[in-house]
Amino acid sequence: MRIDVVTIFPEYLEPLSVSLVGKARQRGQLDVRVHDLREWAHDRHNTVDDTPYGGGPGMVMKPEPWGEALDSVLASGDGKPVLVVPTPSGIPFTQELAVELSEQPWLVFAPARYEGIDRRVMEEYEERLDVREVSIGDYVLAGGEAPVLVIVEAVARLLPGVLGNAQSHQDDSFAPGAMSNLLEGPVYTKPPQWRGREIPEVLLSGHHGKVARWRRDEALRRTSQNRPDLVERCDPEALDKYDRRL
Ligand code: ADE
Repeated sequence: MRIDVVTIFPEYLEPLSVSLVGKARQRGQLDVRVHDLREWAHDRHNTVDDTPYGGGPGMVMKPEPWGEALDSVLASGDGKPVLVVPTPSGIPFTQELAVELSEQPWLVFAPARYEGIDRRVMEEYEERLDVREVSIGDYVLAGGEAPVLVIVEAVARLLPGVLGNAQSHQDDSFAPGAMSNLLEGPVYTKPPQWRGREIPEVLLSGHHGKVARWRRDEALRRTSQNRPDLVERCDPEALDKYDRRL
């Protein structure tokens, strides 16, 4: 997969060189290119923002640098990327969307600073590309760079061969399937006793069915505690089916 990010803070994307994403890049599974938007600003101060029409606080990102930057990125590859624009007014970023994005050969990210990008840029590229305005949660950050890190990590770990064990994302909280919409329950590792605390006995039983049933109960318990909204959306039939398989 190829990923391009156009930003006024290229150094903000440096974490994309470490850990899972960094390793995927080293292995050639992911081709990440970070571009400085100011390369496409032509005045003496490399200005990329201006005051909003209609007044109001803050600054708006100018359309010209974005247009030139995106045209240049688009011309540098084959086919059409999906353009991902992080914004608190976008559609919620979900695991489902992460899966969909992970199936694309090419993603271009346009993280904004200030009050956002001049609307005409979206209109322009919506005519040419699949554009997704995406929010990573109901809070407002200072810019879209941190959301890019979040989205890229969620997508990269779904790429074939990036996670060591393909099973490990099938039981994720929010993974599609029987347990979908349930949060993952607690996990334990050695030693069997720590500061006088034991691990649940069932995990030592070696009984696969009982372990799976325990995990499902814990998942339900944790979900009702932390996300009652998800329990409501949980399909009881899917749970029943899951139980019958145990
Ligand atoms: N930019 C600022 N806040 C954001 C959010 N919550 N999601 C995506 N992009 C953002």
